[in-house]
Amino acid sequence: MAKNLCVNIDHIATIREARKVREPEPVAAAIIAELAGCSGITVHLRQDRRHINDDDVRLLRYTVVGSLNLEMAPTSEMVQFAKTVLPNMVTLVPEGPNELTTEGGLNVDAKAAEVEAAVRALQSSGIFVSVFIDPKIDQVKAARKVGADYVEFHTGHYAEAFERHDERGIESELLKLQDQITLALKSGLKVNAGHGLNYRNIKGIAELSGIEEFNIGHSIIARAALVGMEKAVKEMLNLIGK
Ligand code: PXP
Repeated sequence: MAKNLCVNIDHIATIREARKVREPEPVAAAIIAELAGCSGITVHLRQDRRHINDDDVRLLRYTVVGSLNLEMAPTSEMVQFAKTVLPNMVTLVPEGPNELTTEGGLNVDAKAAEVEAAVRALQSSGIFVSVFIDPKIDQVKAARKVGADYVEFHTGHYAEAFERHDERGIESELLKLQDQITLALKSGLKVNAGHGLNYRNIKGIAELSGIEEFNIGHSIIARAALVGMEKAVKEMLNLIGK
């Protein structure tokens, strides 16, 4: 199983938006990250456009050589936008207006009709669709039912247990993730993982079997701000065993 790293560069745009100026340029960060060896670039186009904007995504479509993964809410406006830009993959995520970051998985089970419509519309343009879900049986089954190609398992609870030095919590989150990875693979879904992963906690997740791609943003951009993007990406690639 390939262990790929997609670097989420949203927070390069967050720094730019702190001053509403032109730098740092997300495309420049994407080019350096790709040259350092990551397999793709992820951005989250939020409905409030607080960091990445429409033009960033269009420019990235022209410049990203590997896989471009667009995270977005499953709304018709976002689906229309994705169908004009044609990223390689769309990851459907829940979105709250006041959240600091994505707070949990998408409830695919409860929103099946809406999610299925988005999945079908995107796939009809040749875009692979992933749904960001909590590692729970009903969500994996729902992801299968709505026809998603991939699931991305939310690793946030694992990351929180790690921060609390909660050995039991860590163990139980890893077991939960491995069980649901196995179920997803058996159901014909491919598996990605992300959220809250960093240089300290990645080991446990990287040792799970069946994950194709890790989506990591904040920790890589935070390190890149101090040591440079190339070094930050290479260090993470090393830790995931790439
Ligand atoms: N995966 C998804 C679906 C996300 O929404 C995010 C945050 O934008 C990430 C991964 C990356 O999370 P982090 O920035 O904590 O690495």
